[in-house]
Amino acid sequence: MQLQFSKEINKEAKRLHSKLKYLNYSLNDCLPFAPFTLEINRLKLEKNAVILAHNYQRAEIIYGIADYHGDSLGLSRQAKETGADTIVFCGVHFMAETAKILSPKKKVLIPDHKAGCSLSESITSQDVLQLRKKYPHAGVVTYVNTSAEVKAESDVVCTSANALKIIEEMPQKEIIFLPDTFMAQNLAKKTAKKIIPWHGTCIVHETFSPEQIDAYRGTYPDIKVLAHTECKPEVVAKADLAGGTSDMSRYVQNSSAGTFMLVTECGMSDMLQVQFPHKKFVVPCAICPHMKKINLENILASLKEDKYEIIVEENVGCLN
Ligand code: 13P
Ligand code: SF4
Repeated sequence: MQLQFSKEINKEAKRLHSKLKYLNYSLNDCLPFAPFTLEINRLKLEKNAVILAHNYQRAEIIYGIADYHGDSLGLSRQAKETGADTIVFCGVHFMAETAKILSPKKKVLIPDHKAGCSLSESITSQDVLQLRKKYPHAGVVTYVNTSAEVKAESDVVCTSANALKIIEEMPQKEIIFLPDTFMAQNLAKKTAKKIIPWHGTCIVHETFSPEQIDAYRGTYPDIKVLAHTECKPEVVAKADLAGGTSDMSRYVQNSSAGTFMLVTECGMSDMLQVQFPHKKFVVPCAICPHMKKINLENILASLKEDKYEIIVEENVGCLN
């Protein structure tokens, strides 16, 4: 998009800068975003669309154009309640599918259909059927980071926040937990039930180590360490909180601590830094290449050309 300096663009850049300055963006850094955010926000109204951004998205998306930002399932639940005709999901494919399952009558778009997820891609519906044959007495609890087809073959779909409660409430003594092997190990420590794991991992969270946490604690003795439950058990064991991205947000909001280490994708720290400018977020930065496929340019194209539309077969919808 051509950058034509106008009063409107300068004003928009200033609006963006009022948020992004907490991430050390200058007004000049915000100028190239302005024509995009202006046009996206205009089209959004024209098309009665709502824009959802996962907590890991770029700050110019979260603070420039998103109507809601949050965790994967929370966003879809929020979108269901709106009167929008179209949902543009700035996140990865399984999240947009979840939004479609919860809002089957709305058009759901993802700006880049190749935005996948290593956890979701680790397992197919055929794998679930094989596991059921191998463990006929086990219940199947599946984390939300999976395709609609895998969800459809499961008994219950969970989030990181309610996985333990669901496992405890299942009638079976053996639970096949899909697809995250580390989350399964973390849960196995908290329940007397036998947990049968799958071998999926998150390419971002598997990179963190307990030594990194020790190093940060050495430098910042009062630091609070918040780790995503997709991390290895030895990482989770060293954290003050293990949870999903919403749990982390809540923890920071309610904590009087001044410094936090977020053991998760680095977008999360940026998102919180803007919201809590007086707190300090130190990160062993890890980027999710799938999440970062989404940008202002492809969001604009998505809204203009109605692409890429998410289709979920009717009998696959299994969330409520
Ligand atoms: P949340 O559901 O906690 O936002 O996490 C989604 C995700 O993809 C984590 O890597
Ligand atoms: Fe998937 Fe990990 Fe990226 Fe989350 S951070 S979308 S779990 S690959």
